[in-house]
This record gives sequence, C-alpha cells and structure tokens, in this order.
Amino acid sequence: MTSAQWGLLLRGRFLAFEGADGSGKSTQISRFQAWAAEQGISLVIVREPGGTAVGERVRDILLDPIHAEMKVRCEMLLYMASRSQLVLERIEPALRQGSCVLSDRFVGSTLAYQGAAGGIPEAQIRAVAEVAIGGRWPDLNVLFDVNTETAMRRMSPLLDRMESKGAEFHKRVREGYLAEARRDPKHYLVVDASQTPDNVFDQLMRGLQAWCTTLTPVAVA
Ligand code: TMP
Repeated sequence: MTSAQWGLLLRGRFLAFEGADGSGKSTQISRFQAWAAEQGISLVIVREPGGTAVGERVRDILLDPIHAEMKVRCEMLLYMASRSQLVLERIEPALRQGSCVLSDRFVGSTLAYQGAAGGIPEAQIRAVAEVAIGGRWPDLNVLFDVNTETAMRRMSPLLDRMESKGAEFHKRVREGYLAEARRDPKHYLVVDASQTPDNVFDQLMRGLQAWCTTLTPVAVA
C-alpha cells in the first residue's frame, strides 16, 4: 500500500495495543510511531492508565506498591475513571481532527486483568465501560500474545503493584486476552509476540494491511 492509501484508511481510526506486561508492546508502539512519521500519518499515542493530568495521578495510585490493600472493584473503577477522562480530553478530539489514535491499553486490559484474572464478571465491566467511554470502542485491538514465562522474564526487576501479582495471575490475564480475541475476532488482531521485534513488527504490519483492506475511509468533519 502507498503512504497515501495508508493515510486515508487510518484517518480517524482508533487502535488499542494490548498485551501482558513483558509482551514487548512498548517496543512495537515506538516502531509503529516511527513508521507512521515516515509515512506522514498523523498519529496520536496515549497511554493507560494516564494520558491526562487527572489520569496520571490516578495511575500513580493504581501502580504504587504501597496500596497492596486495594480491592479489585476499586481498581476497576479507577482504571475506568482515568479512561473516561482520556476519551473526552484526548481521544475524541484527535479522532475528530482526523488523526489515527493509538491507545497503549484500553478496555481490553480491564477485561483481562480485572475480569478474567481478577474475577469481576465481564458483563459488569462492559456496563461500566459504556458509562466511561460512551460507545467509543476501538476499531481494532492488537493483542501481543506471549507465554507467561517469557513475559515474566522480560519484566524489569522493579515490579509495580500489578506486575507483582505472580505467575498464576498473569496466566489468567493471557487466557482472558485470548478468550476476548476469540469472542470478537472482527475487532482483534493477534500477533505472536514471542518472536524477534522485527518479526513481530512484520506480523503487525501484515495484519494491519489485511484489516485495512476491509475498511472504507472515514469521513472526518
Ligand atoms: P503499563 O505497564 O502497560 O503502563 O500498564 C500498567 C499496568 O496496569 C499493567 O500491569 C496492566 C494494568 N492494567 C490493568 O490492570 N487494567 C487496566 O484496565 C489497564 C489499562 C491496565
């Protein structure tokens, strides 16, 4: 595809990159950012939790190991609170201007971490998500899938509150993600993230290209 075709198809699209801690998602986000800049594509990258002044303060609470007593329902609501601010303050305006928005995690993370791994029923998470995001679901979730042993080896030795939940928890996160992708294949691209960064990026771009060919351009005001 030419740069102009990519630009037209990615205009006003909302992508979420998902994956377990240690999946190599951040490396792929940097690569995608460099690729988009080369193609002249307007890309806005936001991260969760965080991405706004309010959200970054919520992030500090969520990830600080000092809050070991935090209950999973409180956790879920805090992630959603940060997300709600992010959608209204950053994501919606950028999409309206025709940028492609890439969110480093979104509702898929809550379904995997607080749902599949944390035990909150999926329907409850979806109901809160509707309030938080007002129907702004990603056009595509890219799941960087890697087995838990590899992921845990890749984590930095300084674990945050979520990363320190142990192997069993992280296995359930992975299974949760894969189950979501199976349930909603139209909105998920699964990439084998156990490969080298070059190979993973290659899979990502091939998958995106295949997805883009199913789209018609978005009309942006
Ligand atoms: P990060 O390390 O990718 O910035 O993500 C922060 C941590 O928060 C990571 O361990 C995943 C976790 N998380 C959830 O548990 N639920 C969520 O909804 C989100 C967005 C992140």
